[in-house]
Amino acid sequence: MDFQINDIANPKLYGDPARLQSFYAWLRAEHPVARAEPEGFRPFWVVSRHAAIREIERQPEIFNAGPRNTLMPIMVEQANRQYFGFEAGVYSLVVIDGERHQELRGLTQNYFLPKNIRKLEALIGDLARQYVSRLDDLGGACDFAADLAFWYPLRVAMTILGIDETDEARMLHLTHELFGSSDPDIVRPGMTQAEHLVAVNQDYVAFFDEVTKDRQANPRDDVATLIANGRPGDRDMTPAERMGYYIIIATAGHDTTAASIAGGLKALMDMPGEIERLRADRNLVKSFANEAIRWTAPVKHFFRNVVEDYELGGVMLRRGDHVMLSYGAATRDEAAFEQADMFRLDRGLNNHLAFGYGPHMCLGQFLAKLEIEAFFHALLDKVETIEPHGPAIYTEAAFVSGIKSLPVKYRLR
Ligand code: HEM
Repeated sequence: MDFQINDIANPKLYGDPARLQSFYAWLRAEHPVARAEPEGFRPFWVVSRHAAIREIERQPEIFNAGPRNTLMPIMVEQANRQYFGFEAGVYSLVVIDGERHQELRGLTQNYFLPKNIRKLEALIGDLARQYVSRLDDLGGACDFAADLAFWYPLRVAMTILGIDETDEARMLHLTHELFGSSDPDIVRPGMTQAEHLVAVNQDYVAFFDEVTKDRQANPRDDVATLIANGRPGDRDMTPAERMGYYIIIATAGHDTTAASIAGGLKALMDMPGEIERLRADRNLVKSFANEAIRWTAPVKHFFRNVVEDYELGGVMLRRGDHVMLSYGAATRDEAAFEQADMFRLDRGLNNHLAFGYGPHMCLGQFLAKLEIEAFFHALLDKVETIEPHGPAIYTEAAFVSGIKSLPVKYRLR
């Protein structure tokens, strides 16, 4: 196929998963450390091999997470700087480095450890069954992504954060607007992408300012209370730190998990006999869930900022350069995974990079896995057969993307 490095910034590439995977394979094989200079963006390096990304992530003192953290057009970075004083727009854990990052991460870290997440098992199992039971009313055919997959992880995230069910649709809409700002279907009518993002951020600020007031007056047992009242490192959080914390907890966990659920189901439906195999051996649900995350890699990249000259794979990265870590490409690296381009629900060791690696590795990884496992247990209990009923449609976005529509038909047990 006819590729150019700059295609990495083209949202359309992400709407076509077969082409995306061919592009990633081409990058890994022929341009493992590639210079991208797409029009409208500041230049950057793209790193696509598993081992090279880990080499970078092991050295956070050389590769900062902030200030440039994801791929954004220059116009959006400028608008963010103007309105928020910071080019990433949202000042969240993923753009903060060093000691302050550790302090802030420490505020909620315990909450997300496996021993605490296991306490949520019954609650999450109930929610999984509740959402899967929507199939009872959908008459044998539905859009599995829009009718089920998006809603369940959202409810889990909102329950943990402590947001009422009545505000859920608004939160889902804002997440889609935040991550899908390059998708013409999603951008607010009559606005440029930059204006759209600024408006979305302002809506978040208005919403979470109310949450802070409420939790300071009436603390509860939820993550919003930790954020509203926390003093990490014995210091008050700045308004930007607090807002960034709410937004990352509210957004990081549901579109990503939803994309893994929908993509995992699609992979199962595409492999005859595998649903029955999974149903017959429930021990495989764990490895299946992790394979679904590797396979879909909903977070396609994060950036790192070079703070001192460094040679990577024979290429000199200079202080001040920016590096895109292509988690999407690394999860299919043949050098790291046997049969990397096959979905294997019994894959053993699966040290994929879909959750990142190093100090910023996903805080919600145990929760995400538990959610996906619970969902598929519930689904396997419920459906006798489930199969595609039209083409899957993928979000056209270079940062977080995955299936946005998955028509299926099914028969219940
Ligand atoms: C960080 C992916 C689910 C919360 C990350 C990062 C990735 C990622 C790649 C690393 C950022 C970096 O390299 O700078 C995913 C995927 C998920 C998922 C693929 C689902 C399949 C969740 C869930 C939560 C969550 C359920 C829970 C709220 C976070 C937070 C961070 C993070 C707070 C920032 C950690 C830090 O910077 O210290 N995630 N995530 N994620 N994730 Fe997830």
